[in-house]
Amino acid sequence: MEQWFSNQVVIVTGAGRGIGYSTAKLFAQYGASVVINDYDADCADKAASELQSAGYKVLSVPGDVTDPKYPDMLMQKTVETFGKVNVIVNNAGYTWDGMIHKMSDKQYMAMLEIHNVAPFRIIRAAAPYMREIAKQEKAEGKTPEPRSIVNISSLSGLHGNTGQANYSTAKSGIIGLTKTVAKEWGPFGIRCNAVAFGFIETRLTKDQESGEQIEVEGEKVQLGIPSHMKGMITMLIPLGRPGTPDEAAGAVVFLASPLASYITGICLEVTGGL
Ligand SMILES: NC(=O)c1ccc[n+]([C@@H]2O[C@H](COP(=O)([O-])OP(=O)(O)OC[C@H]3O[C@@H](n4cnc5c(N)ncnc54)[C@H](O)[C@@H]3O)[C@@H](O)[C@H]2O)c1
Repeated sequence: MEQWFSNQVVIVTGAGRGIGYSTAKLFAQYGASVVINDYDADCADKAASELQSAGYKVLSVPGDVTDPKYPDMLMQKTVETFGKVNVIVNNAGYTWDGMIHKMSDKQYMAMLEIHNVAPFRIIRAAAPYMREIAKQEKAEGKTPEPRSIVNISSLSGLHGNTGQANYSTAKSGIIGLTKTVAKEWGPFGIRCNAVAFGFIETRLTKDQESGEQIEVEGEKVQLGIPSHMKGMITMLIPLGRPGTPDEAAGAVVFLASPLASYITGICLEVTGGL
């Protein structure tokens, strides 16, 4: 495998399972040192030790990305261990569905916190290690090291989705943040792109009846899609099937790779044509 990311440090949030885990694994396979975050500490530690036993350089920094203190801690631990930050993938997320007329403020704001505020704070916390260092490299006449950010959006953010006023708004907002970072940090050679996934098979899209839940401030939040809806969605996918987490990861790694060195400010749709 090409070692595109040898000597590069990649942070992936929400990497204990699903798309984030596949993304962390693929970056490691392409040579990166990887920092795995997840809210679920057991899951983050297990993912990290699986990859470490396969011989990869991996650090687990569990924690809640919506905690205002977490982003600085994440950067400090990353830099203490691996010395720098080249790539950030803002992937941590979940859904908290409900129709608008029944949606609480807490339910709405939780989606903005996890999909907009947390990525913003993480990018801001990374500024000294990405923007400032790239600026210094430029001032010294050096070619800045490869650096980029990939934010995870969704088809719901591009088109809206029934029952997801909160999630759609947030997944749309992350595209605005992506394009702004691309403009502010582009002059320092730092790229920023988004990926909008359609239907990828993970815990988030399991049959709702399977009872997958996440706890938010003591409240149990139901994850998943009603099973009767999944057949209908699949019928609308030209490729005729949901995507796998590894296929989703491929798009993220591509955008951070040298193959995408002239791509910034875009939102790549990875949807099987949906
Ligand atoms: N699966 C899909 O079809 C799909 C479609 C569009 C977008 N997405 C997006 O892809 C991303 C990954 O989702 P997935 O499908 O792999 O889901 P997943 O549930 O399998 O994985 C998400 C991970 O994020 C972690 N997480 C949640 N809240 C967190 C927090 N506050 N701090 C740190 N970690 C947290 C969870 O513990 C979990 O391990 C999400 O942003 C999601 O919205 C997924």
